[in-house]
Amino acid sequence: MEQLLPIVIQEYKLFKEFIKEIFKQTPLQKYTNSLDIFDTVVVVSILSVFGLWALRNLKFPNKEYNQSLFGYLKAQIFLLFVNYCPGVNSYIEKQKANALQSFSDSMERMTSKKILKLPENGIDTESMMEKLNDWIERDSKHYGSGKVSGSLYVMPDKQFIKNAQDFCKHFLYSNPMHADLWPATRQMEAEVIRMTGDLFGQEKEGIGIVTTGGTESILLAMLAYRNWGESQKGINQPNIVIPETAHAAFYRAGEYFKIQVRIAKVDQTTFQVDVNDLKRHIDSNTVCIVGSFPNFAYGIQDPIELLASIAKKKKIGLHIDACLGGFTAIFAKDHNVDLGKFDFTLDGVTSISCDQHKHGLAPKGVSTVLFKTKQLREHAFFSIATWSGGAYAVPSIQGSKCGVGVAGAWFTMQSIGKKKYIEYSKKIMDATQSLAKQISEIPELKVCGNPQINCVTFMSKEQWLNVYAIHEILTHQGWTISSVQKPAAVHISLTLQNVSNLKQYVHDIKAAIEKIKANPQEYKKGGEMGTLYGTTQKIPDSKLAGQALKVYLDSLLKI
Ligand SMILES: Cc1ncc(COP(=O)(O)O)c(C=O)c1O
Repeated sequence: MEQLLPIVIQEYKLFKEFIKEIFKQTPLQKYTNSLDIFDTVVVVSILSVFGLWALRNLKFPNKEYNQSLFGYLKAQIFLLFVNYCPGVNSYIEKQKANALQSFSDSMERMTSKKILKLPENGIDTESMMEKLNDWIERDSKHYGSGKVSGSLYVMPDKQFIKNAQDFCKHFLYSNPMHADLWPATRQMEAEVIRMTGDLFGQEKEGIGIVTTGGTESILLAMLAYRNWGESQKGINQPNIVIPETAHAAFYRAGEYFKIQVRIAKVDQTTFQVDVNDLKRHIDSNTVCIVGSFPNFAYGIQDPIELLASIAKKKKIGLHIDACLGGFTAIFAKDHNVDLGKFDFTLDGVTSISCDQHKHGLAPKGVSTVLFKTKQLREHAFFSIATWSGGAYAVPSIQGSKCGVGVAGAWFTMQSIGKKKYIEYSKKIMDATQSLAKQISEIPELKVCGNPQINCVTFMSKEQWLNVYAIHEILTHQGWTISSVQKPAAVHISLTLQNVSNLKQYVHDIKAAIEKIKANPQEYKKGGEMGTLYGTTQKIPDSKLAGQALKVYLDSLLKI
């Protein structure tokens, strides 16, 4: 202790000199000569307390996923300008109000005889049925036009659809949470998992959860990995590494469950994830990596066998997002197309999401997430033994739920059967490859990657040709297709509804290009940002895109 003391005093003097030097750089310089030990301690303490407070309390807005540091700084400066410059804020508010008005106007066009209050006396069923028939007649012109990307996947077979409706209506009031009251829905749920698991390589036992759709399936898989990482590896700051083309649901899982989402680049020729970049993002806090089969935007499957070997080597999970492609791709081998392995027969694959309500051809509201082991699945379950309402356990995000979803999946899978699924898979895959070929022969366009499963996306090869202008012209001709971004391109998801209209699609694309060629100036600004996912709604201004999206949601929920 006695030897230590002079060292401490010496260190302290040096520190004091250091503080004085800093002070000399500031306007407080004139006071520094009189700085004694006490002053220094006080000043350092105040600075430390302030510094700690600032670190804890000054919250910087999060960087958007995929946003460059430069883009982030630019956006923050823009927001500072917006928030603190008189007049600018009100300009932005005006723009938002305009956006809301324009979104609301387009909703209004489809809204009739608004109801704002609960009727005093109940309305008779006959008049409600009249309204229903009007709605069906109007809406089916859009969703049943055969010119829609994805959205409605079932074959255009009125009798089949009626049979599914007749079967499902008996489960409208069921609640599979009460398994003893509705044992039929429990059985169907377990059988849907078993049938789906069997298709995806779970030979002995189905290990999965039936959910309401692809998003919930992905959320539950990511939750399972987060909880697994915490309990098995002590990871409390988990991250997942996903291709930048992975579905938005993975970003949502990141936000909901506080998982860091790391984005791996996608090769701009193949549109598959850059495996080396993905590897670079993996560290000791990584709980899983992700591959799509295929991704939504470009319809391209990631190199799953490579991803599986990485996951195995690093002892982390590999989730396959086969929400969109699963029920097409899994039957490819049955019509002699080799897409490579992407199911549980491939060592390293630990979970798969696949949607019955897409190419499984079931009514909406049902998907399955499969897990390699029961232990992993358990990490997605929720249970609480000590709740005042009684011991409580549910497999998915919902509490009470309707049995219609599972009934629709069960009916459809039973009714269609494997042979028909193989036939449909062949039809869709053949059409995908043929469409890609036809589009690639249009000199001004380039097909993104080599689509094989059920989507085709193209971009422009020419400076003068804004691909979103083609989208806009096609929209005016009654097509409801998607515009995608990074890079800008136009996407169509093939379905049994639109597959017979693809000749017309190619014809209309060519005609749109001719129209633009004849007047390139007019189409130069064909919507800078394309349209909102799943709609034909245009985003008004790229700087306001983030705010416009929330405004769009406001308009959806407004009457
Ligand atoms: C590849 C992919 N994953 C996940 C989803 C999410 O599915 P859902 O819209 O059923 O939640 C989609 C939807 O299109 C998708 O294309």
